[in-house]
This record gives sequence, structure tokens and C-alpha cells, in this order.
Amino acid sequence: MAAPDQRRPFGAELSVAAQIVRVPALCCMSVAQEHQMLAAFNRYGFAILRCAERSRSRQDLLSLRRRFGTPVPHPRADRDGIVPISPAEPVAGFLGSTRAEHLLHTDGAFRDRPEALITLQCVRPATRGGLSVLASAQAAYEYLARQFPGRKDALTEPDALTITRTDQTSTQPLFRHRDGVCTLKFRMADGVSRVVPRPDVRDQYAELCRFFAAPANRLSFRLATGDVLIADNTAVVHGRTAVPAGLPRVMRRLNFDATGPTCRHMTFGFPTSPTST
Ligand SMILES: [Fe+2]
Repeated sequence: MAAPDQRRPFGAELSVAAQIVRVPALCCMSVAQEHQMLAAFNRYGFAILRCAERSRSRQDLLSLRRRFGTPVPHPRADRDGIVPISPAEPVAGFLGSTRAEHLLHTDGAFRDRPEALITLQCVRPATRGGLSVLASAQAAYEYLARQFPGRKDALTEPDALTITRTDQTSTQPLFRHRDGVCTLKFRMADGVSRVVPRPDVRDQYAELCRFFAAPANRLSFRLATGDVLIADNTAVVHGRTAVPAGLPRVMRRLNFDATGPTCRHMTFGFPTSPTST
């Protein structure tokens, strides 16, 4: 059995409701609510904060800087680090600004040092489509270890995968071990990214992509207005289903370097020893 707060894998069967913490606003969580958030995050790598007060949601999102540290740069971010996620104004090379399906990925995979913590605030959900999708890197790792006994560590080689978008590129391991903790950096060829696995890991990378495409491994849900998804970018991959033509969907993305005081109590990555759910 995994310890109560130990990171563990999940699949489509996980109860999203159990990951939701109701709070008055991000800026004024009680100690008990913060503990609930940490327990949910540490267990599966994500939590959803359901905010009752939504009138100053942008400022409220920025209040997370006090907890999570410095916002990380992004080519489309405003001066506060917030990236608008809306199909209203498509920008070439950025799926977040389109209606297309956004395949599962970790953010910042084009950089050598991606952000550890991602947050996404729902301003206006789509009435159809536009579902958020999450999947567990730990479940994928354990699956690959079973499928390729003795070979999984090839994916930890420093040149296992090269990912390129516009002028950003990074050659990197997919999985990285440090101090008994494993992390994932991942992107699929999705129309805007060029992804080239090293020839000897092509089959494992293809299997990893198939794992993340399989419905049984994907947790899908619709964020409600005022919800803020918080996820470990090193242990959870995220994406979004397509947004039908004509339907608005507005989100705000704000990612952090995880240097804030709350992060000292947060688990990042996952243990490589087998755990049970
Ligand atoms: Fe993303």
C-alpha cells in the first residue's frame, strides 16, 4: 500500500469529484482547505480549486504567486505571465489558441528546464467539447516497465528525444531519475511540434504515445467557471479535446517555477518503486 500522501498512478476511473476542493477564493483559503489541496495534489498530482467568489478572478489567480513562486515565461504571456487560452484569436504554432484537439503533453517541453507547476483558470467553459484531459506519467512508466523489461532506462538517456517548435528546441530524456524520484517531459507530434526519438527508443516512444491515447488511461472532465486546475507538470500530462466551431471557451494559464513556500509541502514527480492505488 502507498502511504496516504504518496504519489500514485491514476486512470480514467479516478473520481474527479474527490480532487475538487471548494474554497471562497484562491487568496483566502483556510488552513483546512489548504491541507485538502495538498493532499489531493500529492496523491495524484493535481487538484481542482472550486472558487465561490469569481468577480476578481484574474487578480485572484495572480495571488497564487505568494504560494507557488515566480510565473515562468511563455511567448504569448502578458506582463503578469498569464497566457490567454481561447480560440478567438489563433496564433500560428500555438494549439492553445486554436479549436484543435491539444494532445497530451507537459508544458515547456521545448525548453531544457520546464516549469514544475501549471495552473489553469476557467473563465468560460465550452458548452460542448473543450474537455480537459489528464493522464499519469507514473502509470505510463509502470506500463512501459512491464512492456519492455530491462529496456525502460533507454528513455532516460540524455538524447532520447528531440522536440522542436518554431525557434525553440530541446534534446532530452523522456523520463529523468533523481534521488529516487522520476519525472517526465513529453510531447507528441501534434501538428505544431516536431518530435524525433532516438532510433533505438522509437518503439518505446510509440508505445508511450499509444498509452496516452488509450481512453482507459485518460481522465476527462469539464472545468466550471471559477475552477482552477493545479497540476504537477513533471508527473501529469495534460491536454484538451477539440472545441466545436462557434463556441467560446476562455481559460487563463499561469505556470510557476514552484519556489513558493507552499511548494515545500508539495510532492513533485513520482517514486519509481511500484505502488498500489
Ligand atoms: Fe499545456
